[in-house]
Amino acid sequence: MAGSLKTMKRHSYALNAILLVISMIYEAGGLRTTQLQITPRVAQKGKNVTMACIYQNHDYGVYSVKWYKGAQEFYRYSPLESPTTRVTPVSGIKIDRLRSNETHVVLIRVGSSLSGNYSCEVIQNAPSYPHSISTARLDVVGIGGLRAIELRISPPVVQRGSDATLACLYELTDAPLYSVKWYRGRHEFYRYSPTETPATKIFPFAGINVDLARSNQSQVVLTRVSFGLSGNFSCEVTADAPSFATSIVSNTMEVVVLPPSSPSIHTSQHHYTPGDVMRANCSAGPSRPPAELAIFINDLPVTPGMYQVHPAAEGLFRSELYVQVQLWPAHYERGAPILRCEAKVADLYRDDSAVALYSANNDPKIERVTSPGAASHLHLCQFLLIATVLVWANNT
Ligand SMILES: *[C@@H]1O[C@H](CO)[C@@H](O)[C@H](O)[C@H]1NC(C)=O
Ligand SMILES: *[C@@H]1O[C@H](CO)[C@@H](O)[C@H](O)[C@H]1NC(C)=O
Ligand SMILES: *[C@@H]1O[C@H](CO)[C@@H](O)[C@H](O)[C@H]1NC(C)=O
Ligand SMILES: *[C@@H]1O[C@H](CO)[C@@H](O)[C@H](O)[C@H]1NC(C)=O
Ligand SMILES: *[C@@H]1O[C@H](CO)[C@@H](O)[C@H](O)[C@H]1NC(C)=O
Ligand SMILES: *[C@@H]1O[C@H](CO)[C@@H](O)[C@H](O)[C@H]1NC(C)=O
Repeated sequence: MAGSLKTMKRHSYALNAILLVISMIYEAGGLRTTQLQITPRVAQKGKNVTMACIYQNHDYGVYSVKWYKGAQEFYRYSPLESPTTRVTPVSGIKIDRLRSNETHVVLIRVGSSLSGNYSCEVIQNAPSYPHSISTARLDVVGIGGLRAIELRISPPVVQRGSDATLACLYELTDAPLYSVKWYRGRHEFYRYSPTETPATKIFPFAGINVDLARSNQSQVVLTRVSFGLSGNFSCEVTADAPSFATSIVSNTMEVVVLPPSSPSIHTSQHHYTPGDVMRANCSAGPSRPPAELAIFINDLPVTPGMYQVHPAAEGLFRSELYVQVQLWPAHYERGAPILRCEAKVADLYRDDSAVALYSANNDPKIERVTSPGAASHLHLCQFLLIATVLVWANNT
């Protein structure tokens, strides 16, 4: 009996020693234990939310507890001041002052604008005012605990014939999922309902091929996408009983075709000399949407002239840019000016072609190998130019 009492005492000494060490660690590092708890973390619109700042009370006591939404302070508790609590207006925040105190803040009837990060900062009354801060997130969702957030299409612009993934991002609390329905325009083409077997259902729609293996409750994968699918897609999320609340989001899918080849450049003459007016046009396509075009001389942009879009087969377009520029000696400072045309389609495609604008009389040896035309000519010309110079060097 006496022996076991001794053992217990020894244990309790050891425990006290451990607690002492722990409390010394806390003292040395200031308020390490602060923690912000938000209840509920995902709140329905219109409900009250309680935020608790849990911290250790020290001998010196607390100097103040500050509450922030993002970086904006909205509430402060300072026991040495009078009144001890102070509310700083922040748009959308309504505080229940009677139920808020040194550790708790109660927000009344939260709106969706109150979703975000909240922090509580505890400042101790000790000489150096040690402080600690803790952050937590509040999400405010629609009635029924359901909010569809976004229909995300990836890639954002889809090439005809390739695959597209449509993801429905939603938040659902307080209720299980009843169904997710997918629409092209007003036509439903895919449904996921976990309570049914099978859980997935496809409704035929011309041009839509659903890859079932890669589709589930949050996404649907379309394969071999055609032009006809450009347009409005929606996903509608429904919560289970009793609310059967629904929420819908939409997004527009753009299906594109990229130009099959580099843009082509046509110049009005075969040769130019400084002082000449050069007329050139650049065309690209067929594509959809039509390619944007830009022309450069020695990599400096040329003021664009007429830009035209012509319809082509299969709903595609050819685009053409026409420019007119007077050539100056400055253009020839580093040899023949380089005329370059750049074609772009959305962020998906960028290609260019270039030609050298050789002069007919300045350098007769170059004249023999010049010709107007496309990019490949430039490389050929450069090669022949080098060859000509070598021959000329050998002859002298
Ligand atoms: C929210 O707080 C307000 C103000 O204290 C109160 O009138 C209301 O009943 C509360 N609502 C809920 C759902 O607790
Ligand atoms: C502070 O308010 C919360 C909720 O309103 C309450 O649960 C808690 O007991 C209060 N604390 C003190 C020290 O009054
Ligand atoms: C909220 O905090 C998280 C995690 O610290 C951060 O990733 C996010 O960007 C913050 N959001 C805002 C709106 O500040
Ligand atoms: C749906 O499928 C995608 C791709 O296979 C996967 O990344 C995602 O986690 C799935 N979502 C659910 C809720 O199962
Ligand atoms: C897309 O379809 C949804 C549902 O039919 C509709 O509410 C929305 O206005 C449409 N959006 C556009 C841009 O047509
Ligand atoms: C563009 O160049 C081609 C070939 O020289 C020519 O047939 C066409 O008419 C030109 N277009 C314009 C708008 O000048």
